[in-house]
Amino acid sequence: MNNTAIAASGLRKSYGDKKVLDGIDLNIAAGSIFSLLGPNGAGKTTTVNVLTTLARPDDGTARIAGFDLATQAREVRASIGVTGQFAAVDDLLTGAENLRLMADLHRLRGAEATRVVTGLLERFDLEAAAGKPASTYSGGMRRKLDLAMTLVTRPRIVFLDEPTTGLDPRSRRTMWDIVRELTAEGVTIFLTTQYLEEADQLADHIAVLDQGRIVAEGTADELKRRVPGSHIRLRFTDLAELDAAAAVLPAGTRDDEALALNVPGDGGSKALRALLDRLADHSLEAADVSIHTPDLDDVFLALTGHATTEAEAQ
Ligand SMILES: Nc1ncnc2c1ncn2[C@@H]1O[C@H](COP(=O)(O)OP(=O)(O)OP(=O)(O)O)[C@@H](O)[C@H]1O
Ligand SMILES: [Mg+2]
Repeated sequence: MNNTAIAASGLRKSYGDKKVLDGIDLNIAAGSIFSLLGPNGAGKTTTVNVLTTLARPDDGTARIAGFDLATQAREVRASIGVTGQFAAVDDLLTGAENLRLMADLHRLRGAEATRVVTGLLERFDLEAAAGKPASTYSGGMRRKLDLAMTLVTRPRIVFLDEPTTGLDPRSRRTMWDIVRELTAEGVTIFLTTQYLEEADQLADHIAVLDQGRIVAEGTADELKRRVPGSHIRLRFTDLAELDAAAAVLPAGTRDDEALALNVPGDGGSKALRALLDRLADHSLEAADVSIHTPDLDDVFLALTGHATTEAEAQ
């Protein structure tokens, strides 16, 4: 099980009579980026809390970095870093002091502590702000500092609960770059997000969480292929060609104005080749071919029957 960073089976958690996690299974490869995607209240933070020993599951088992969640909580905690949904930054301290406090808490001393703190300030581009109180930091700087604090112990598995919520596009990209750098060093990332684009951009594997259940899993492309709406768009040079193609491909929907035919398909190369072969058999050729796959918004809507918060907000 060396290649599995996080394995969970049948995790359940209720608060009162509200089922918040209703049987979560996970299998996350070491060194990968896993994204738990879901709207407000789906159970993302609860999942993070359970996997990081902050909340006890009512049922189910999990191994984190090979350690059993129930019986080896201390070893689990030593292997992970957690950046919560709400920053753990102390406003009264400067950036450097916040980092130093983390180093102290983890018994890093003297030159070693200084080296780690300086290295993190540099890496997160916070050197200029290092001596200023965190209360004067922007949202993006606080997020960076918060993550830097998580990395003081050099954890092999990092949990990031909505790391970019509320950040502007540029700060979001900076965060994404940092996450990618971490995985390049072999760190496993467990990321929650309500942003479909974020999961799409970053994650090797995505699980869609809705009301405490994982309703779909896969790569972004796999998820997109699961929903109807993928089609191959063929454009022709004149109406006669379009007429002929439409007769050969009766499943297609015509767009006479654009001289185009939209043929449902899964966007895979096999479907595309079959389609083009069929045209060629009738001596027809498209002037232009494009493949349209639905985005994760469509996926979410199709899987859960409701849009994500992000989709609603737009
Ligand atoms: N300590 C608690 N006591 C009671 N109910 C809770 C507790 N923690 C979470 N819940 C409930 O569990 C559900 C899931 O909450 P959770 O915080 O896991 O969602 P989330 O996916 O992280 O949402 P968000 O995107 O808003 O952060 C919500 O209905 C919430 O009210
Ligand atoms: Mg949350």
